[in-house]
Amino acid sequence: MANPTRIDWSHKNDGGVAVGSPDPARWESLSFPQPWPDRPWVFGVMVASANGVVSWRRRGPGDDPVRAILGGDARPERIADRRLMRYLRTIGDAGIGAQTLREQPRLVLTPQESGDEPAPELYAFRVARGLSYHPRNVVYSLYGRLPLEHPIFTTPELHAIVVTTPGGAAVLRGHGASATALPLIAEPLLEHEGLAGAHRRLFAEHGVRYLACEGGQTLLSALHEAGLLDEVFLTVTDVVIDKGAHDGILTSFDFRAERAELVAEGKISRDSGYSFQRWRFRRPGGDASPRRGS
Ligand SMILES: NC(=O)c1ccc[n+]([C@@H]2O[C@H](COP(=O)([O-])OP(=O)(O)OC[C@H]3O[C@@H](n4cnc5c(N)ncnc54)[C@H](OP(=O)(O)O)[C@@H]3O)[C@@H](O)[C@H]2O)c1
Repeated sequence: MANPTRIDWSHKNDGGVAVGSPDPARWESLSFPQPWPDRPWVFGVMVASANGVVSWRRRGPGDDPVRAILGGDARPERIADRRLMRYLRTIGDAGIGAQTLREQPRLVLTPQESGDEPAPELYAFRVARGLSYHPRNVVYSLYGRLPLEHPIFTTPELHAIVVTTPGGAAVLRGHGASATALPLIAEPLLEHEGLAGAHRRLFAEHGVRYLACEGGQTLLSALHEAGLLDEVFLTVTDVVIDKGAHDGILTSFDFRAERAELVAEGKISRDSGYSFQRWRFRRPGGDASPRRGS
């Protein structure tokens, strides 16, 4: 019998080189374009409600927008989404915005998070392709207010890199980042060229070739505005969020208005209410898709 959590993709124009699959019964092989000559190929990984909501300002530790948007934990779609995210952590390295790190105190961007099913095949799949056991965890912060006791900074053998501003680097050094030998890339990130320069340094100094950027939306929007977000894997669930019931609602991109191209779409079954989408902003190796304002 077919695996009920395996996503079947219809590939329209996703192009690139097939990466392969750690277990074809569970994961279809996806293809990725070559990285740019001087910076990584950057892909977003996000989940949105049926009406586009990706997060809101949390009222407390029990108020978890991501879990609410995903619906019940045991649903086959939920398992498929988690497995897709874990597979996407085998492609290269992974990144997140500082606010997500601060709000998700147990998050570690690795193929097997605490509480996950064992995933030795995902690690073997990385290592067989010459990658490190864990992806590097790239954390983006303007002001350097990072809890250095977070497991992203303390998990043995997992290497974090902080992309920050010169001011943020000074704050981090003041809080002991030098003592932990945490690599810092300090650039003027509020300028598009500064954010682009940070990605060139991730490529040149750390060998980052593919970066799965797992949000949040603030970080993805900054990357997109700087012309650095190449594509987004977006899981659209069947949960409708009451936007009036929360403050600080953030929604995903309006991909069509941004002239992104839907290059692949997946489902686990014909009647499933989840849609796994792959939206591309930039054409690999060629001209960028026109960006807003250009
Ligand atoms: N639906 C999903 O798939 C999904 C995915 C991820 C997260 N989330 C949820 O989204 C919420 C957090 O998302 P968010 O959008 O508020 O925040 P975020 O994108 O995770 O992080 C924002 C932070 O990134 C840093 N930043 C902002 N602009 C930057 C730039 N130009 N360059 C480098 N760094 C920059 C700043 O850090 P400093 O403040 O340190 O200066 C800023 O506070 C959480 O509730 C999280 O659980 C949802």
